[in-house]
Amino acid sequence: MYRSLPFIFALFTLPAWADDITKLQEESRAVALPFMKQLMGENQKAVSEGGPASAVGVCKTIAPKAAADISRKQGWKLTRVSLKVRNPLLGTADAWEQKVLQGFEARLAKGEKADAMEFAEIVKEPAGNSFRYMKAIALQPGCVSCHGNAEQIPADVKARLAEEYPHDQATGYAPGQIRGGLSIKRAL
Ligand code: HEC
Repeated sequence: MYRSLPFIFALFTLPAWADDITKLQEESRAVALPFMKQLMGENQKAVSEGGPASAVGVCKTIAPKAAADISRKQGWKLTRVSLKVRNPLLGTADAWEQKVLQGFEARLAKGEKADAMEFAEIVKEPAGNSFRYMKAIALQPGCVSCHGNAEQIPADVKARLAEEYPHDQATGYAPGQIRGGLSIKRAL
């Protein structure tokens, strides 16, 4: 009798848990989508106005600053992470993020489009539970001048990348591939 109590408890709490995830996920999307839109827009604008080399600032300055502003404002941690990073300090994925990004790669291999991919979960950690959300960042045609293959990256951009990021791993991507993920972590 007592042994079955935890099960009964689990059954009753499950739907509420699921509701929580849906609500948390919607709140994350409401923050993630404008952030992604802003970056894609700024990137396009910079490339068309000043050429690829001038767009370096979008990924280097605007994106980390916008992520930091949102993190402070929301009280969440919002970052861009990848399995192949250019900036290891900001971009390295933790264990959960690596697992999710690998899951995205598997979904891509099965034919799912990267643009719409997302994953959400409540994660238990020593310091407490947190809600974690990740949205795939798909490579757009405008990104290849800095994240594409050697022939697609103009010489001036290549020189700047070689100087500033001598350990760069973030090249060789084609449009539609997964450059990384937008990751949100929120303490519950
Ligand atoms: C003009 C060059 C340039 C273009 C164009 C560009 N990026 Fe980047 N990208 C960079 C640089 C430089 C960094 C490293 C930023 C830093 O120091 O944190 C970076 C970092 C990133 C990161 C963070 C993970 C990492 O590797 O450090 C993601 C995600 C990313 N870029 C996605 C994109 C996407 C998606 C596009 C197209 C919409 C794009 N980038 C276009 C130069 C560029």
